[in-house]
Amino acid sequence: MMKDLAMHIMDIVQNSISAGATLIQVSINESAKDDTYLLTITDNGKGIPAEMIEKVTDPFVTSRTTRKVGLGLPLLKQHADSTGGSLKLESKEGSGTVVIATFGLTHFDRQPLGDIAGTMVLLAAANLKIRFVYEHTTPDGEYRFDTDEVNEMLEGMSISEASVMRFLKEMINENLKEIKISG
Ligand SMILES: Nc1ncnc2c1ncn2[C@@H]1O[C@H](COP(=O)(O)OP(=O)(O)O)[C@@H](O)[C@H]1O
Ligand SMILES: [Mg+2]
Repeated sequence: MMKDLAMHIMDIVQNSISAGATLIQVSINESAKDDTYLLTITDNGKGIPAEMIEKVTDPFVTSRTTRKVGLGLPLLKQHADSTGGSLKLESKEGSGTVVIATFGLTHFDRQPLGDIAGTMVLLAAANLKIRFVYEHTTPDGEYRFDTDEVNEMLEGMSISEASVMRFLKEMINENLKEIKISG
């Protein structure tokens, strides 16, 4: 099954959560001019040791003894490569990791974004102590979702309440429509 981008983001963010991050930022930048679709996931977790960085995008290596092929970074790299893009990792032990995936914006093999609103809301609701930021920029504008700001707006109500989750998902989708994100 081909994954959409939101599913990839869910996978990559799980790595950040496992790495003990308290701040996780997902940024998407669409450039019609350069025909690029840039996805950046930044965390302040424990980082990846230098000697592991090259290995983690190789589907035949893992820190565990078995690996479900198709999970995580190697699959994201394969997807980015297939659209004329690339995957880059920048990490410093003790201070965090940046995963940078570039895709061809109009490339036929770029998977659609999928349900990013539902993904971000689910991540936020399941990890109330982590601050999530989601930014999306297109030629039509920029939208930013920040759980710190959301929590202030909610005045004590929890992001994990079903009605709040529904409301946030709708709010994000409405805002993404305004900036005309690509499918
Ligand atoms: N953001 C991150 N912070 C720290 N370590 C990471 C991060 N992302 C990946 N890693 C390391 O790289 C390994 C490979 O990640 P991944 O490809 O998602 O496969 P998996 O999570 O199934 O092991 C992880 O097990 C972890 O050791
Ligand atoms: Mg993983």
